[in-house]
Amino acid sequence: MLTIFDQLESNVRYYCRRWPTVFTSARGPLITDEHGTDYLDFFAGAGVLNYGHNNPLFVDLAIEHLRSGKLLHSLDTFTEQKRDFLNAVHAHLLAPRQLDMVVQTVGPTGAMAVEAALQLAYRVTGKHGVVGFAGGYHGMSLAAASVSESMAPRPSVSHVGNFVALPFVEHLTDHDLTLLEETLRGTINGEGVGAIVIEPTQGEGGCRPFDPAYLAAVRTLATHYDVLVIADEIQAGVGRTGPFFSHEGTGLDPDIITVSKSISGLGLPMAINLVRTSLDAWRPGEFSGTFRGNNLAFATSAAMLTTYWQDDAFQKNTERQGAIVRDALTSLVEEFGPGRFKVQANGMLAGLNTFDTPIAEAISQAAFARQLIVEVCGRGDTIVKLLPTLIMTDDQLHDGLGRLHAAVADVMGAQ
Ligand SMILES: Cc1ncc(COP(=O)(O)O)c(C=O)c1O
Repeated sequence: MLTIFDQLESNVRYYCRRWPTVFTSARGPLITDEHGTDYLDFFAGAGVLNYGHNNPLFVDLAIEHLRSGKLLHSLDTFTEQKRDFLNAVHAHLLAPRQLDMVVQTVGPTGAMAVEAALQLAYRVTGKHGVVGFAGGYHGMSLAAASVSESMAPRPSVSHVGNFVALPFVEHLTDHDLTLLEETLRGTINGEGVGAIVIEPTQGEGGCRPFDPAYLAAVRTLATHYDVLVIADEIQAGVGRTGPFFSHEGTGLDPDIITVSKSISGLGLPMAINLVRTSLDAWRPGEFSGTFRGNNLAFATSAAMLTTYWQDDAFQKNTERQGAIVRDALTSLVEEFGPGRFKVQANGMLAGLNTFDTPIAEAISQAAFARQLIVEVCGRGDTIVKLLPTLIMTDDQLHDGLGRLHAAVADVMGAQ
């Protein structure tokens, strides 16, 4: 039977094809469809729901906000909620990390944060060239897609020029350093290089962290050649890998950090850039956007920061659960693909690289049949990608990993 979805929704629809059921409600790490079937969500809205579906803490706050007559939309005027949010950013993100940065509200999506970062880099350096990385993904606006190497095979993306992608660096070599230096010193289509855009741990590219030594070298060389470092923490940030930012402790020391997805805590559209204060060269109003003042999201974000980031307990728990996930994936490799499969992971951003598109796709489908939601990623979609919520119990985590094991056994048993 032709549904309203088939009839009216563009052919571009995607996730609904992977999980073809109608979802009706959700709580914590669970999502329920209209037949009453519960699914364990190891996708978490592509990293939007690190704090779970309908986290009661934020839901109660949002309901109170909505009933009270407080502002919802405010462009970038001053509001009580923005003040609370900025205070929370200062207290829980900037001050503890001794970051001298300002907050730019950029509109509701990650792509807008990347747009703003690229435009500011040009504003500061006067140089149009952008260096990115193989497997990098930064969003679907024209500029963000143009610096996303992983988008390159998509025929719909018209690339704006002045971009080169360097190889991903898992283990730093002298060759990587030489290539980086030559690229930063050189020109791209006649333009000097003004920005490096990097996901310190890649999400869509395959749940893979850059060698921290390379990230430190990026900082050093970028400073030398007057290039701004943009760390895209949209997917790997907000606690996904353990620390709030996936680059913490690496020496990357970015000039601009793009943050979105889970930043509202509740799953509301919100994005910000953190910008090194000395580089905040914007003229008033030079970068705009109607939806920069989502006060509901400011309120829930402030609650997320003050609840989960007042000490390191949440980070430690994510790192502990990340180790459980890594161990489970390592066992899967040993059992089903020794010498063939590979674990790629940082904290709770974890992947099983099967190096085989049909196998990865089949595992995702077999998992769905066992009421587990898992996505695939990486070039050619060869990697089974796990992004569990960060608020689940160990029992729920083990339950999901058990379902994944069964799904892999289903697929590999049939090979
Ligand atoms: C690392 C990264 N940057 C940017 C984006 C784009 O964010 P949005 O889809 O909100 O525009 C994404 C989305 O998946 C992402 O993973």
